[in-house]
Amino acid sequence: MKTVRIGLIGSGFIAVLHMHAYRRVYGINVEVRSVVSLDASVGDFARRFGIPDTRSDWRTLLNDPEIDVIDICTPPALHAEMVVACMRAGKHVICEKPFTGYFGHPGDATPIGHHVPKAVMYQRVMAEMEETCKAIRASGRLFLYAEDWVYAPAVVKTAEILRATQDKILFMKAEESHSGSHATHAANWSLSGGGALIRQGCHPLSAVLHLKGVEAAARGERITVAEVTCDVGHLTAGLTAQQHAYIQAHPVDVEDWGMLSLTFSDATKATVFAGDMVMGGVRNLVETYTTGGVVFANIAPNNHVVTYLTDDSKLGDVYITEKVDRKTGWQFVCVEEEATRGYTGEIQDFMECVTLGRQPLAGVDLAYEAIRVHYAGYWAAEEGRRISL
Ligand SMILES: NC(=O)c1ccc[n+]([C@@H]2O[C@H](COP(=O)([O-])OP(=O)(O)OC[C@H]3O[C@@H](n4cnc5c(N)ncnc54)[C@H](O)[C@@H]3O)[C@@H](O)[C@H]2O)c1
Repeated sequence: MKTVRIGLIGSGFIAVLHMHAYRRVYGINVEVRSVVSLDASVGDFARRFGIPDTRSDWRTLLNDPEIDVIDICTPPALHAEMVVACMRAGKHVICEKPFTGYFGHPGDATPIGHHVPKAVMYQRVMAEMEETCKAIRASGRLFLYAEDWVYAPAVVKTAEILRATQDKILFMKAEESHSGSHATHAANWSLSGGGALIRQGCHPLSAVLHLKGVEAAARGERITVAEVTCDVGHLTAGLTAQQHAYIQAHPVDVEDWGMLSLTFSDATKATVFAGDMVMGGVRNLVETYTTGGVVFANIAPNNHVVTYLTDDSKLGDVYITEKVDRKTGWQFVCVEEEATRGYTGEIQDFMECVTLGRQPLAGVDLAYEAIRVHYAGYWAAEEGRRISL
């Protein structure tokens, strides 16, 4: 059997999760041949995961005949350029979320999140995204969108139920919130393309769009997003140092809270929440209310293992879940986190796609639609009105 050979760009937070997932692929031989990173710790990363080669210039992967797939795990502002260059070079591409965004044009007043009108951002990001998508489609290679929520077992089960019942989704409530990002790029619009709403909210939004697509396909219909309203805020702006002690959010020109409301072409609804000031561990939830019942996809927290422990000092390396500031008191332990949150299913699907030449569950259409809806949302929030798509 042919081995699928990966070149990984990035050795930060998400690259670690991808590496755990590559190790668990079954039925296909996978080798991560090279890791490219600007981090001084890239050698340690390579040793930890048994990667034989490290580099600092991602462009050296383009003409490397030993690489089949390039896995982009870099900050969002770099995604589009890397995707286009890699696919034009004949590589299949895995791209982390969000697909792309608006990161500034020459002449923009800075910081752009405070100065560039969101209507302008929407127009420009749509034009740029069309070009990126054109290049992707012309390449004939696979674009594999690393939206792990599509592969989270709780979302996969929701989709299975929708396919079986063919029930109509009347509304969905979805959320990703936690106590703030570790990443330095998260604070600046020019690096992240927005704040909590796109950085975290793109997961629940993508799950909603995916499930609505599953529902429509089950009945042979087509349902699209017709209208978007939105609100955003900077809730941590006025906090004292003491009030900020457990919150990691330090936005420069991005929101740390956001809410999207979607109206679909069949007049049904979905709301998506994202926040950077929510303690108690990451909240990754999708509630689906249909004509036939209710499905709660509790990716995290869930009650698979619930603990009440009293002595932090005895717990050492015991992992509880992402974004908790202690291990004591009541805890919702995330068991098999890479699987529960969809990373293993995602990488398995991508490796099968490369081997069998089929399309992924999460591809360019989902990546595109999530960005279109997010930027329509930012525009709606700024102008205080409903945007029709
Ligand atoms: N799916 C998820 O659950 C999830 C979670 C966190 C982050 N992400 C996404 O993953 C991406 C990376 O986020 P992160 O949290 O891992 O960030 P990070 O800051 O931890 O890591 C970023 C990595 O990119 C590397 N890098 C930056 N510029 C580079 C360049 N020009 N050439 C080569 N390497 C370069 C850095 O050296 C670093 O290793 C983002 O798009 C983010 O939105 C996804």
